[in-house]
Amino acid sequence: MQRQNSYKYEGQKLASWYFTVAMILFGAQLLLGLVVAIQFIYPSFLYNVLDFSIARMIHINAMVVWMLYAMIGAVYYLLPEETGIEVVGVGIAKLLFWILTLAVTVVVLVYIFIQVGPADDSTIWLITEGREYIEAPRWADIGIVVVVLGFLANTFLTSMKGRRTGIMTVILSDMIALAGLYLAGMFFTDNISMDQYWWWWVIHLWVEATWEVFVGALAAYGLIKVVGANRQIVEMWLWIEVAMLFGSGILGLGHHYFWIGTPEYWWEIGALFSALEPLPLVGMFVHVLYDWGKEKGMKAATGEDMSSNNTPALMWLVSNGFGNFLGAGIWGFFHTLPQVNIYTHGTQFTAAHGHLAFFGAYATILIAMFYIAVQGKHGIKKLRATFASKMAIFLITFGVVGMTIALTIAGYEQVLIARAQLGGTWEAYFTAQDQLWMAQAMNWRLIMGVVTTVGFFYLAKDLLTISKNPENVYE
Ligand code: HEM
Ligand code: HEM
Ligand SMILES: [Fe+2]
Repeated sequence: MQRQNSYKYEGQKLASWYFTVAMILFGAQLLLGLVVAIQFIYPSFLYNVLDFSIARMIHINAMVVWMLYAMIGAVYYLLPEETGIEVVGVGIAKLLFWILTLAVTVVVLVYIFIQVGPADDSTIWLITEGREYIEAPRWADIGIVVVVLGFLANTFLTSMKGRRTGIMTVILSDMIALAGLYLAGMFFTDNISMDQYWWWWVIHLWVEATWEVFVGALAAYGLIKVVGANRQIVEMWLWIEVAMLFGSGILGLGHHYFWIGTPEYWWEIGALFSALEPLPLVGMFVHVLYDWGKEKGMKAATGEDMSSNNTPALMWLVSNGFGNFLGAGIWGFFHTLPQVNIYTHGTQFTAAHGHLAFFGAYATILIAMFYIAVQGKHGIKKLRATFASKMAIFLITFGVVGMTIALTIAGYEQVLIARAQLGGTWEAYFTAQDQLWMAQAMNWRLIMGVVTTVGFFYLAKDLLTISKNPENVYE
């Protein structure tokens, strides 16, 4: 029988609140993405109402915030299961959720309605700090730090009291690093090189070290849940990935220090370590696919029911294995050597990589968590994909891959014309912008963006209704 709204733990109910806001912000991200994509083609679209710079800022901030929400939600979801006890101080955790959500709402309203301020400290404090991806004003920064400290305290105390698992140990230490790094993006220097130097501590060290480790832990948890993977095997992979990710990800930071005025030794350090970064991503890829195949084989041998417990979550987990490897590993590796990066730096090639990496490495696995939560909410033993589940994964993936291909072609054209042929001058930039290949790519990006957005609506519908799928098996 289907249970209504009956999470086993209050912590998991709280997780579903975080997931709900994450989905809303994901939708907002796509909507703003479409606005920016239209402005590339018709520059007067919403001019002076929601300018390119503002719409683009909201597009990428919404992405960072929905992913952080989904990550916090994921921790609150798996915490009671891993530790075997209710989240300690769940009442305070719920209060913090409302404070954070109120703050995010105010920040977004200020972005939309006030947009810019005078060139003094009041703007940094009240409107925007102007640091790409983490534009939130200083008051919100401080608020975020307080809320995150509360979240860390809840997680830490629960882990100490309950059962200890490898997955929880990794998540806990990773969360401390993730929160600590945010501080590097908070202080202000008027030297742009120094500012960029520290800004990358948040941006690069987040996505290429702490977020990736988090994804490793989620993949481990997800595989145990969804295909009943052997904990010892997935945790062994997890430790290997953690060691490799930190090894390459931290010094890989050098690939952002090539041209911002930092010493030249970063060329060698950045080239070597960032080139090693795809290795742990291969590990994660193998981790997902190998465990999936192995469990299937083992269960088939014992005659056990080998079907997955949650087919939509499994589809998204597998797409995470591919997406992370392709978007971060391959598209990242393409432009990571300084000899290549001098031509590709800041072209649409970067945007191609940015889209496929954020989507492949993070959106996919967080969506898998949404499905795991839906399964938990309704007490479903085996959750079965619906037509909408399949349309969602197909259209979203097809759309993002399509955008990536379009942007890769645009970047290639910029490299050849603006950089190689015309020497990378200001004028060369505009000549390259006027080429047919650029114009076509921008059209295709918009079309593929629409495809992605249609997929999103299928996803939202599916998350709300999949519990009623007659093929589901109930406990
Ligand atoms: C999931 C992990 C990753 C994500 C989410 C990600 C995302 C991004 C984004 C959004 C940017 C653009 C930053 C900006 O606005 O300036 C960027 C830049 C860059 N990424 Fe990644 N990345 C990831 C992993 C990697 C890996 C593993 C490599 C190398 C093997 C790599 C190589 C680079 C390079 C070289 C740049 C600079 C591009 C330029 O010079 O314009 N990335 N990344
Ligand atoms: C409706 C679908 C989408 C459209 C139309 C769209 C469009 C755009 C546009 C026009 C930009 C500005 C690029 C520039 O400044 O040259 C942008 C930036 C960006 N978008 Fe999207 N986007 C979409 C979905 C996504 C998704 C699903 C993700 C990741 C999960 C994402 C992540 C990013 C990132 C990281 C940047 C900054 C890239 C950089 O600085 O290199 N977008 N997007
Ligand atoms: Fe990086």
